[in-house]
Amino acid sequence: MENLFAVVLAAGKGTRMKSKKHKVLHPVCGKPIIDHIIDLLIDLGTDERVVIVGHQAESVAAHLEGRASFARQDQQLGTAHAVMQSAPLLAGNDGVTLVMNGDHPLFTRETLAQLVRSHRESGAAATILTAVLPDPTGYGRVIRRSDGTVDRVVEHKDATEEERKVREINTGTFCFDNRLLWDALSKVSNDNMQGEYYLPDVIGILNHDGHPIGAQPVADPAEAGGVNDRIQLAAAERVMQRRILNGHMMDGVTITDPDNTYIEAGVAIGEDTVIHPGSILRGRTRIGTDCVIGPYVELTDLEVGDGVTIRHSVLQGSQVEKKATVGPYAYVRPGSTLGEESKVGCFVDVKNTSLGKKSKISHLGYVGDARVGEEVNIGCGAVTVNYDGKNKHQTVIEDGAFVGCNVNMVAPVTIGKGAYVAAGSTIHRDVPEDALAIARERQTNKPEYAKKLRQKG
Ligand code: UD1
Ligand code: CA
Repeated sequence: MENLFAVVLAAGKGTRMKSKKHKVLHPVCGKPIIDHIIDLLIDLGTDERVVIVGHQAESVAAHLEGRASFARQDQQLGTAHAVMQSAPLLAGNDGVTLVMNGDHPLFTRETLAQLVRSHRESGAAATILTAVLPDPTGYGRVIRRSDGTVDRVVEHKDATEEERKVREINTGTFCFDNRLLWDALSKVSNDNMQGEYYLPDVIGILNHDGHPIGAQPVADPAEAGGVNDRIQLAAAERVMQRRILNGHMMDGVTITDPDNTYIEAGVAIGEDTVIHPGSILRGRTRIGTDCVIGPYVELTDLEVGDGVTIRHSVLQGSQVEKKATVGPYAYVRPGSTLGEESKVGCFVDVKNTSLGKKSKISHLGYVGDARVGEEVNIGCGAVTVNYDGKNKHQTVIEDGAFVGCNVNMVAPVTIGKGAYVAAGSTIHRDVPEDALAIARERQTNKPEYAKKLRQKG
């Protein structure tokens, strides 16, 4: 197969975003806009990807390190000028060059593959990816001749009233014959409303030189949405979100209320899992089969086994093994492993803790920096006292131990295998295997005393 190169334009200031962060680094469904594009280009088998950087060049280049090469455009003189900066890396090669704007996250692999295919098959010098939009305001318009072939692209600001009525727009994505591109770019002038060198002018120039031009409309105009401001960012988020949810549903996941479910791009979910409303699944979260997730959970970078139930809870950077149940109202913080069939219940905060198979912390507790064995029961209100004001210390609770309600375990401390800790104890020394530890004031009963008190009053 002939070489396939890509140039992605990302040097502009993105002024309309009003942001300290570069526009292309803003996430859409948890993934930076530029990553959506670069991942597609890698997936398409591009031989080289050149990203044009300028405004905040360092942050964009650092973000993409290893996935693209870079050409610098120090002054943003327009999109044609931007592409020209990649000439030292690409000119002189035979092949096809795909040029894309860095602010268009919504194209699908099929669309780009189809564009490259139709470009190659037609033998055109350039093929432009177009879209027919209900409201084309702001976009460059594709001007066709009476025979339907493409003549040129005119920018919104330069267009006449008549031209502005055209609803077919330039999506900013083109395929070019790599050898013809550079010569045409050198002929672009900046004699226009914005005083910029416009890339779409290359279409008119190639045409003028007698080269055939192709045009390929996107199947779904929703793909054509670019991001210039935060309103368009939210619109892109919506389109991408629906696509992600549909993908999971097609793969056998039940999503009971897609309008109230938020799943980021990097999340994987197994068959027959049910996601209830108010669920937010982020980052590298992986969920097994037959789980019940939600309502109202926020899961970030979470590894979830099969048959797990998680309701009304927040979990991060942890592992939940098969058939465990979490919530309602649990908080599981990074570095935790909740073992098979374990239970973390209502108002329980767990941090950097491993909980063995079938162990339970059913209600009201804090367990941090702990290693908890199998079949341990931690009673209501029990707390690991893991922090002495300077350092964190570990609590070890061995298999089969039973920790009563309202127990403080002052770490570092070990509760041995099968030991019992009486309710209300403050444990600061190790409890041996199978021992019963009681560390609380003995109870005194004063007979008839309550009655006396009442009579006094
Ligand atoms: C551009 C197209 C327009 C098309 C639209 C699709 C031009 C002149 N117009 O308009 O026909 O309908 O995209 O969204 O190309 N950039 C640089 N260097 C520059 C200028 C821009 O790298 O000197 C980058 C920007 O960072 C951005 C991309 O090029 O990623 C597009 O620039 P932008 O200013 O957003 O162009 P539009 O006005 O959207
Ligand atoms: Ca744009």
